[in-house]
Amino acid sequence: MKINIAIDGPSAAGKSTVAKELAKRLGYTHLDTGSMYRAVAYITKEANIKIDDEEKIVNLINMSNIEISNDNHITVNGKDITEIIRSNEISMAASDVSKLKRVREALVAMQRKIASQKGYILDGRDIGTVVLKDAEVKIYLIASAETRAQRRVLQNKEKGIPYDYEQILEDIKKRDYQDIHRKESPLKKAEDAIELDSSDMTQEEVILEILDIINKRI
Ligand code: DC
Repeated sequence: MKINIAIDGPSAAGKSTVAKELAKRLGYTHLDTGSMYRAVAYITKEANIKIDDEEKIVNLINMSNIEISNDNHITVNGKDITEIIRSNEISMAASDVSKLKRVREALVAMQRKIASQKGYILDGRDIGTVVLKDAEVKIYLIASAETRAQRRVLQNKEKGIPYDYEQILEDIKKRDYQDIHRKESPLKKAEDAIELDSSDMTQEEVILEILDIINKRI
């Protein structure tokens, strides 16, 4: 029988990469919930709506057709925005819209509907505490801000994208602060989550450790 798995943690901790690989090995589906907040940030900016105008943003969500495929390709009204929403500007704006209660309610409802058939790995900030409180396995994946910034630098190097370590580190710390201190569903470890600090672990070590935890549950 398939279960649901929640992976939460701060930005750039490697949640998405790990969740994607776990899904592949288990034959599960990975849902990157952060990309849904990013999509809302994107349509809000495109529509020139202020990032804290809850009423207008919720209306915009209701009027837009946001679709996310099994491999986390995301479209709005048919337009593929998967790549555009990875920019620094959208990262920060996603953290801003994610403070809004009614935006969260709308996205949480979509996420619960998707995961209702089981066999899902959701990664985000509030999966273990709110979205899937009953997930059979909950992981809280952390790493030091410096490690996360260094990993981002490496990714950018590989992709040939210009980078500035100090700026990346500052952005990571700023988003951490916002995500941890917001009123609605702040980032925090669920009581029944297992914390994994990946600062000194390779990606493969993290995956094997989580697979071990999962195998003990199924
Ligand atoms: O995981 P990410 O960096 O793509 O997420 C972008 C922002 O969305 C993040 O700063 C906080 C927000 N978010 C959230 O509040 N809840 C989630 N389940 C996922 C993301």
